[in-house]
Amino acid sequence: MCGIIGVVGASDTLDVLLEGLERLEYRGYDSAGVALVRPGETWRRRAAAGVESVAALRVACADAPGDARTGIGHTRWATHGAPEAVNAHPHLDCTGRVAVIHNGIIENHAAVREELEARGHHFASVTDSEVLAHLVEESRAAGLDLLDAVRASLAVVHGAFAVAAVDADEPEVIVAARRVSPLIVGTAPGVSYLASDVPAILGRATTFYAVNDDEVVRLGPEGFRAVDLEGSPIRLRQLAIDWDLETAEKGGHDDFLSKEIAEQPEALRATLADRRRRDGAITFDELRIDDDELVAVRRVVLVAAGTSHHAALVAKYAIERWARLSVEVDIASEYRYRDPIVEIGTLVIAVSQSGETIDTIQAAREARRRGARVVAVSNIVDSSLAREADAVIYTRAGLEVSVASTKAFVTQVAALELLALRLAQLRATLPASDVEALFLGLRAVADQVAATLARHDAVRDVAATLAGARDFFFLGRHVGFPTALEGALKLKELTYRHAEGYPAGELKHGPLALIEPGVVVVAVTTDPALHAKMLSNLAEVKARGATVVAVATDDDDSVEAVADFVLRVPATEPLFTPMVDIVVLQLFAYDTARLLGRNVDRPRNLAKTVTVE
Ligand code: AGP
Repeated sequence: MCGIIGVVGASDTLDVLLEGLERLEYRGYDSAGVALVRPGETWRRRAAAGVESVAALRVACADAPGDARTGIGHTRWATHGAPEAVNAHPHLDCTGRVAVIHNGIIENHAAVREELEARGHHFASVTDSEVLAHLVEESRAAGLDLLDAVRASLAVVHGAFAVAAVDADEPEVIVAARRVSPLIVGTAPGVSYLASDVPAILGRATTFYAVNDDEVVRLGPEGFRAVDLEGSPIRLRQLAIDWDLETAEKGGHDDFLSKEIAEQPEALRATLADRRRRDGAITFDELRIDDDELVAVRRVVLVAAGTSHHAALVAKYAIERWARLSVEVDIASEYRYRDPIVEIGTLVIAVSQSGETIDTIQAAREARRRGARVVAVSNIVDSSLAREADAVIYTRAGLEVSVASTKAFVTQVAALELLALRLAQLRATLPASDVEALFLGLRAVADQVAATLARHDAVRDVAATLAGARDFFFLGRHVGFPTALEGALKLKELTYRHAEGYPAGELKHGPLALIEPGVVVVAVTTDPALHAKMLSNLAEVKARGATVVAVATDDDDSVEAVADFVLRVPATEPLFTPMVDIVVLQLFAYDTARLLGRNVDRPRNLAKTVTVE
C-alpha cells in the first residue's frame, strides 16, 4: 500500500522526505516521487525502479532547490496503471503548480476523469489519483483557497483516500485529508508533518495526532488546524507514541503477522472498491479480457499453490454455484506434468499472491502453450505471472511480509468470488437482484472480519488451554473444507505441530482410526445446510476421546452439546464464510505459535516466495 509523507516549515525539506520514504519501504512499493514548493514554483521528481525507487529518486533529486520549506513525498504500490514513472505520485494539475499525493482508490475516477477531460483538462497518467489534482485546480481557479479547494474536490469523489495537496501559490501550506486510508499529523517547533505511518516522521515530530475519516487538515510552519468536510473546526486526537523504529514499522504490533491479520478488513475493502459500474455491471479495470471472451468460457481450471490453492478451492464452489460453469482446481506443481486437457473455451485462472511462484508460473505457461486463455490473480502489479498472463485481476492487500499468508487468502477469495459474479452476470445464470444482493453482501464481509478480530481474547484463551496438544484435525464440509485446509496449514507452518485438513465426510473412510484422547479436532460448522451433518461427525470424534473446537455462528445454540470449545463468528452467506471463519483459525495458530515461542514471521524451513520447483 502506498506511503505518504509531507513537511512544511523545514530547512532540510528534501532530507525529511527521502528519509521518510526510506522508512516506509516496509509497506512495499514500486515507484516513488517528491514535490518541493517554493513561491510560484512546484518542483517534482519521480522514479520507478522497484524496491530501488527511493535510491533512484535520491539521485534524481541532485538538482533540487535547497530553499524549499514545503514538500510532499510518496511511495506507490500500483493499483491503477503500471508501476512506471508516469504513474508515480505526485501528480500535477494542468498548470504544474498544484501537486497531489494519494493513497487509496477513487472509485468513480473514470466518470470524474471523463467530465474533467470534457472541460479541457489534460491527463498525464492513467491513475485514479490524478483526478484529484485537476479537481483542486478547478476550485483554485474559482477562487477557493487550498483548504476549501481540497474540501470541494473530496465532495466529488467516492472511495478511500489519504490525500495531500500543495500549491505554489500557497507555498507554506499543505492540505491533507483522510477517508479509510491511514493518515497522521506530527508537529515540532516551527515544523509540521504528515504521514501515512508513524515511522516516516519518528525522531522528527515530537507530538502526533490521528486524522479520522472525513477530516481535513491545513498544515503550516506554525502548526495545523482541522475541519470536517463541511468546514466546521474540529480537534484532532493526540496519540501517545513511545515507539522505537522497529515497533513503529509494525504499526505497534509485535510482529508483521499480527499486523497483517489486523489489516484484513482494510485489504478486503481495497480489493472490492471500484468494482461496479453505475449500470450494476461488475468490472475489473485491469482485466484486459473482453466480455465476449468471458461469455465464450465453457470450463474453468484454477491453478495455485499453498494458501492460494485453498482460495482457488473456495472459488470452485462459487463459480459452479453462481455461473454454472464446471470448475477444476489443480495444485500448480502437478498441472503441467499430467498432460492436461485444454479444450476450446477453457479459461485457466492462476492464483498467486506474489505472482512469482515458479510452480504457478509454469502451470500458466503450460496452459497457454496448450491454447488456454489465462487470467492471473495476483497481489503484485506487473509480477511475472501478471505480465505473462492474458489478463489479470489484482487483489489489493498491500505488502505481505510474513511468510504465512493471511490477508492474501481473504482478498483472493473476494476477488475470485467477484469474478464468479461477473461470469454469472454475463451468462445470465443469476437474476440481477441476486447479483446485487451478493455483491453488497461481499462488501459487508470486511465488517464481519473486523467484528471477528475484535474477539481475539476468546481465541487466545482456547489456544492457551490447548497449546500442549500435538495432533490436530481440521474438518469442514463444502467451503468449510478449504477453510479447514487453510486453518491446518496455518497451524502447521506457524507452530510445527501436526495438523491435517479433511472433508468431514471423509473421516470415516480412514482417518477416524487416528482419533484418540489428546487429539484436537477443529471443525468449521458455520454452514446451516450442513450443520446437522457436521455435528454428527463431531459426536463421532468426541465419542472416541478427541477434544473438539468448533467454529460456529453467534446464533448456533446446539453446537455446545458436542464441542469442548466454541469460537464464535458472525453469520454470513455460506459462500462468504471462508473469509470470516479463517480469521479465528489464523488467530488460533498465531496465539499457539506465540505460546510455543515460535518465530511467527519467519517459520523454519520456509520462504515467502518459492521460486524453485
Ligand atoms: C502460506 O502461508 C504460504 N506462504 C504458502 O503456502 C503460499 O501461499 C504459497 O507458497 C503460494 O504463494 P503465492 O500465493 O505467492 O504463489
